[in-house]
Amino acid sequence: MEITKVTLKDFRNITNIDINLGSGINIFYGSNAQGKTNFLESLYICSTGRSHRTKYDRELIRFGEKEAHIRIYVKKANLSDRIDTHIKLNEKKGIAVNGIPIKKSRELFGTLYTVIFSPEDLQLIKNAPSERRKFMDIQLAQINPIYCNALSQYYRILKQRNNLLKNIQKNRKLKETLFVWDSQLVKYGIKIIEERQRFIKKISEISGLRHEFITDNKEKLSVSYKPDVSVNDFKEKLQNSIERDIISGTTNCGPHRDDINFIVDGNDVKIYGSQGQQRTASLSAKLAQIDIIESETNQKPVLLLDDVLSELDEKRQHCLMECISNIQTIITCTGIEDTVKKYSGNAKIFRVENGNIISES
Ligand SMILES: Nc1ncnc2c1ncn2[C@@H]1O[C@H](COP(=O)(O)OP(=O)(O)OP(=O)(O)O)[C@@H](O)[C@H]1O
Ligand SMILES: [Mg+2]
Repeated sequence: MEITKVTLKDFRNITNIDINLGSGINIFYGSNAQGKTNFLESLYICSTGRSHRTKYDRELIRFGEKEAHIRIYVKKANLSDRIDTHIKLNEKKGIAVNGIPIKKSRELFGTLYTVIFSPEDLQLIKNAPSERRKFMDIQLAQINPIYCNALSQYYRILKQRNNLLKNIQKNRKLKETLFVWDSQLVKYGIKIIEERQRFIKKISEISGLRHEFITDNKEKLSVSYKPDVSVNDFKEKLQNSIERDIISGTTNCGPHRDDINFIVDGNDVKIYGSQGQQRTASLSAKLAQIDIIESETNQKPVLLLDDVLSELDEKRQHCLMECISNIQTIITCTGIEDTVKKYSGNAKIFRVENGNIISES
């Protein structure tokens, strides 16, 4: 699939733009703080219903304005969809597909698949476990409506259970009502564990191949899922930790404590890997996301590369550019690097300056 046209009004520092994108590589270059990431963010919002940078929609509206608008057209085969996002200062944002408003962001499924890649993603292995859960969740939620639903229900129930635990500290009698939340938590938790298991198995296979390619067959990468509890013992472990949970006022076990391990040549790369090995393994895992979307949905995602090329050495830049040769890619950079020039024969080039986007093609 590809994004053909983008119109923004009062989105972050962008007052008004209306541009047509090319079906291959699109390069947005400009100095710092001009609006490059803002532009990518607007596309990501149309894909997932939320920003990758903030959970506060009001931040997306240009300072001093009351509303922001994003309109994009997405082409797949012979069909074209229009996605309109209307962000308001004091109301929930509205999203419509072909003029029909959607109620939940999961109704956006299948309209636009994206993979976003920022320099922080290269820290995936070094970062806290929450980042690795995010890596699973963002991807799975985009391609799997059952997962998306289970995840939002799970976190809703978890929040309510944690509130109840704090209230039990003051009133022990409330403990009798805990089982209502626990059975729901286990039900949705098991679904999450099952889907994550399946997903990580695939990521491991595909990122292993990518990693071999990037390292010239010198390293073997595998990815393993480290669930905090298993499908079989979640219920029991939750039961056993009730007293501890009441004392701490929080739920101490469940998939909200899951993690993933990256193993290079038999060793945990988070513990034993060099910085370069950690970054390469992160890159391999990120690239695997593109293949997974393609194999699960039969659609090529749009790749959003936010200033990531300058973070990679020449060899890895080449690998990345090879991998994306047949999908629409939107690249932001401060200067047009040599690698980009080499691969961007047919690229469309845009200059980003103080919230304006000027086509140079
Ligand atoms: N709601 C808003 N209204 C107006 N300006 C905003 C708003 N939110 C952010 N900005 C401004 O947008 C500017 C550009 O941000 P952006 O993150 O897109 O920069 P960038 O071009 O990606 O820069 P860099 O190369 O440093 O990553 C920043 O100066 C920021 O202050
Ligand atoms: Mg930026």
